[in-house]
Amino acid sequence: MTEPQKHPRTTIADLRARKGSAQPLVCLTAYTAPMAKILDAHCDMLLVGDSIGMALYGMENTLGVTPEIIIAHGKAVMRAAKRACVLIDVPYGTYESGPEQAYETASRIMGETGCDGLKIEGGAEMAETVLYLTARNIPVMAHIGLKPQSVVKDGGYKVRGKAPEEAESLMRDALAVQAAGAFGLLIEGTVEPVARAITQAVSIPTVGIGASAACDGQILVTEDMLGLITEHTPKFVRQYADLAGTVDEAVAAYARDVRARVFPDVAHTYGNGAAKKASDAS
Ligand code: KIV
Repeated sequence: MTEPQKHPRTTIADLRARKGSAQPLVCLTAYTAPMAKILDAHCDMLLVGDSIGMALYGMENTLGVTPEIIIAHGKAVMRAAKRACVLIDVPYGTYESGPEQAYETASRIMGETGCDGLKIEGGAEMAETVLYLTARNIPVMAHIGLKPQSVVKDGGYKVRGKAPEEAESLMRDALAVQAAGAFGLLIEGTVEPVARAITQAVSIPTVGIGASAACDGQILVTEDMLGLITEHTPKFVRQYADLAGTVDEAVAAYARDVRARVFPDVAHTYGNGAAKKASDAS
């Protein structure tokens, strides 16, 4: 008997091995089991991102996302994803006070979800924490450039790396977290020359969002690229579908049918065998 073909999970080591590869890493966010099941067939990495605050919970930013939220959705994604590497965001306010607080949160998320690794926002200022976590077997992807957990402090979502001092500071961030043991870098909202220079300078893979094609991989918020979030589409998002429009049309059709009493019809009704046979025969 032929063995069913197995697709082993993509590991952190597999992601690392793709550094500089001609095949960029394909990454998307995932928060639920049904969506993760679809994305899993196409992606190298799925991120249970704290963008879930806006994408699913109607929050204004990522700051209200809690460990309980991220863990519940992380478990759902882990149940569905069979081949992609799954990373989970460490939520705002649960790691910044020091390496020990970070380890407590990180080990809880890893332990309760069984995910493959975590993503933490921060560069040089977070290097000590990254070192502490990686020394304790927690794989960390560091998130530099535009950091959504800092938007309130920074006064909004601004593209990074335009000024030379900022470009230099981003390079210092990248090198510091690499030296601290980060296995990868997520670079957000950063100008192309800086993302390119960082990607060339580090030996770990870079995954960009609004950070050009120079990165080793790309990630988008799935709800953005599927056209499910319609209020604001950032410049870097390409919409590959208009699911908000598709859902709107489907729900309008359902509402019409219910109001006209044409749904449910015989085919969708239990215990009405005679009527069904008559309709099958016609
Ligand atoms: O939370 C998130 O979705 C992110 C994106 C920038 C990928 O971190």
